[in-house]
Amino acid sequence: MGLGLFWKSLALHQWIAKKCGMRVFFGPENTEPVYKMLHDEVSPTHFDLHDPYDYCRGRALELAREEIGDLPGSIAEAGVLYGSFARLMNRLFPDRKLFLYDTFEGHSKEDVGQASGNGYWRLDSGELEKGECLDYFTQLYKEATREEFNAPEDIPPVQVAEYVIARMPFPERCVPRVGRFPDTAAPDGEERFAFVSLDMNFYKPMRAGLEFFYPRLHEGGVIFAHDYNNPSQPGVKHAVRDMEELFGPFKKFPLPDHSGTLVIVK
Ligand SMILES: C[S@@+](CC[C@H](N)C(=O)[O-])C[C@H]1O[C@@H](n2cnc3c(N)ncnc32)[C@H](O)[C@@H]1O
Repeated sequence: MGLGLFWKSLALHQWIAKKCGMRVFFGPENTEPVYKMLHDEVSPTHFDLHDPYDYCRGRALELAREEIGDLPGSIAEAGVLYGSFARLMNRLFPDRKLFLYDTFEGHSKEDVGQASGNGYWRLDSGELEKGECLDYFTQLYKEATREEFNAPEDIPPVQVAEYVIARMPFPERCVPRVGRFPDTAAPDGEERFAFVSLDMNFYKPMRAGLEFFYPRLHEGGVIFAHDYNNPSQPGVKHAVRDMEELFGPFKKFPLPDHSGTLVIVK
């Protein structure tokens, strides 16, 4: 069949399916009640499920939840900021403990320098600049947090975490870990996980995230490693590559969302 004919027949099938009330696509105009609930109840201003890229990650999480099913384990996000994605996680996994790891005051100085790709930021010129991104991100996150919560300039990180949790649909399930990851994961060595979101931009914390969570992930569990295909944050891909040397090749698939999340399934 020629391509033109193929598209015509696809369009005809969609038209017939619509007329018969069938769902053929996962698009926002034709979605599940859960998706609608996500959008109406928990989608914050910074994670817009009507934006096709955010939709891709949000919906991928929802579908991953179906695959995870009854697998035991907690869920976690390392790199929470003000909890845009964590809120979706909390809504979709209401019965699971949700660990929230963040400094709640931007990047830590220890995360820049040393290993390959660490702390690099790709400039518009294409060059890799080292170090400056730390100040850039930290300032950005601090300002964004204050703006988000309409909070004073000197708001302490513990209080930021409280603001974040107060907005969660199931705050009682949340366990805040305030400070630098992986130091803050020390009490959680015995935990096991079903789903983890890693979103800490730089090589060092992303590597530490994979090193900590991958062995603690149940078989069939899922990790979303954000920024994997973000050319301005090459440290993330370096971290994944280096951890594959340690653990062996991951079963993985890239999402076409904002900043290119990598899905790893154990
Ligand atoms: C891109 S933001 C996270 C965005 C968030 N996932 C969302 O849904 O909007 C990155 C976050 O990682 C945190 N972070 C980076 N390195 C960290 C580390 N070593 N320990 C704890 N938090 C870290 C920063 O404080 C910042 O809040």
